[in-house]
Amino acid sequence: MQPIVESNQLVLQAYRLRLLLALMLANIRLVINWVRDRHVIRRRRELAKIYKGTPESRAIADGLEEVGFYFTNLRRLGINEAVLDYCRELTGSARSLSIEDVWAQNYESIYHRNEREGYWIDLHVPMRQERTPLLEFATNEIVVGAACTYLKEVPFLTGLGLFYTPAHADKVLYDNQFWHLDGRRPSQVKIFMLPDGGDEESGPLYLIPKAYSNRRRYTACLGRYTDEQIVENGVDISKRIPFVGPPGSIVFADTSRLFHCGGRTRNKPRSQVIINWSPVESYLPYKFKQKQASPGSKFPDVNRDILRYFSGLI
Ligand SMILES: [Fe+2]
Repeated sequence: MQPIVESNQLVLQAYRLRLLLALMLANIRLVINWVRDRHVIRRRRELAKIYKGTPESRAIADGLEEVGFYFTNLRRLGINEAVLDYCRELTGSARSLSIEDVWAQNYESIYHRNEREGYWIDLHVPMRQERTPLLEFATNEIVVGAACTYLKEVPFLTGLGLFYTPAHADKVLYDNQFWHLDGRRPSQVKIFMLPDGGDEESGPLYLIPKAYSNRRRYTACLGRYTDEQIVENGVDISKRIPFVGPPGSIVFADTSRLFHCGGRTRNKPRSQVIINWSPVESYLPYKFKQKQASPGSKFPDVNRDILRYFSGLI
């Protein structure tokens, strides 16, 4: 009969071998992913270098570079204003909602699980991959072209929604109602559009221009600040610019570089389209550490078509 000690050693050795094999396999996967990601980035940057853009898309990219944002509207971008009717139709039934209804819906929703305090609902969620007028707007050549020129790579569509916030006098701020930077990405292009217009009463998006946003003071970039806290930290909120205007007003902004907040609605509700175009590299470290979905995974067909579009321009 074999001694127990020896048999235990054999088992231990087998475990060690399995562990070693698992580690080797994991590293091979890591290296393969890294090489593939480098290739994807290089390809997207090469295409962006060649891409010339239109005068309007270049003007938007310049605005983003200089001050961090650029105001425009649907008509100036030559975008079919039918998108306004489409948004109003989606907003229709939501107009009767109170903030309590929104809390209740968010509580039930798989998108906002555990976020009872959420102050808005996304009315476009069920139709992300359909070719709706909103997707047409998001993938308009000037819109994508501006993001491509500014980010210096063919970007990924990572978000598209129509967010409705009922009027509420709630003084307790939540999430994006605080001043913040979208810190998960070093840079990105967000496009905001007001289908019903908006003014200071409807809780506009406020942007602090690049020159005053002073990102270096906030190395973590993940904080949420009240007016008092952000002033204490040296940010001059008197320089804030509200995104207000008639229906169809648009602002392009790099919300990763500008302090911003919004949705502090008081007397009027707000509906707002938000489109996110993001660079790929900012996601890569997260893919392994946080099991983040790969960029653009919400819109695989759209992102494949966009890459084809840019590839076809050569
Ligand atoms: Fe934000």
